Amino acid sequence: MQTSFDMFYETEVPEDELIVSRTDFTGKITYVNNTFADISGYEPDELIGQHHNLIRHPDMPKSTFTNLWETIKKGDVWNGYVKNRRKDGGYYWVHARVSTVMKDGVATEYKSVREPISREKAIEIQNLYDNMRTQEEGTTRVVLYIKNDKLEEAKALEE
Ligand SMILES: Cc1cc2nc3c(=O)[nH]c(=O)nc-3n(C[C@H](O)[C@H](O)[C@H](O)COP(=O)(O)O)c2cc1C
Repeated sequence: MQTSFDMFYETEVPEDELIVSRTDFTGKITYVNNTFADISGYEPDELIGQHHNLIRHPDMPKSTFTNLWETIKKGDVWNGYVKNRRKDGGYYWVHARVSTVMKDGVATEYKSVREPISREKAIEIQNLYDNMRTQEEGTTRVVLYIKNDKLEEAKALEE
């Protein structure tokens, strides 16, 4: 159970900087630029060598990533909206374009370049993804207000 408020903090994504990461064919991060590391709240060293799902946010429906992988494995470009989880538990929204890196006509890696999205778009996509998760995975996102003593009881049960 996440009992910290950190998860409600949104990080603003800069308008005028490229936000880039690259992975090998299995999704392990091979490169991040400083902007990507900054937004994620990690040092570049902490990201390189890790699977990209390190920053997966629990609000993301599984089918979005199934679709991403099917698309890029065919050699096509995937475009979509992604909510990522920061190291501190917060989040940020981006529009991502994921594609294959070609060197001398040979596929070498995958890369993702991201850009910020509007507040209205983030709300629209949050609703869409909430509905997708409810339908596809049977999970519902809830925000709960409970008395402190009940919270302590719940925490004690977890330990
Ligand atoms: C180039 C590239 C960039 C990716 N960027 C992200 C990302 O920013 N956030 C994310 O959650 N998944 C990203 N993914 C997808 C992850 O590899 C992974 O499929 C996803 O986090 C879901 O995790 P799972 O496949 O273990 O369920 C990216 C994949 C590739 C190939």
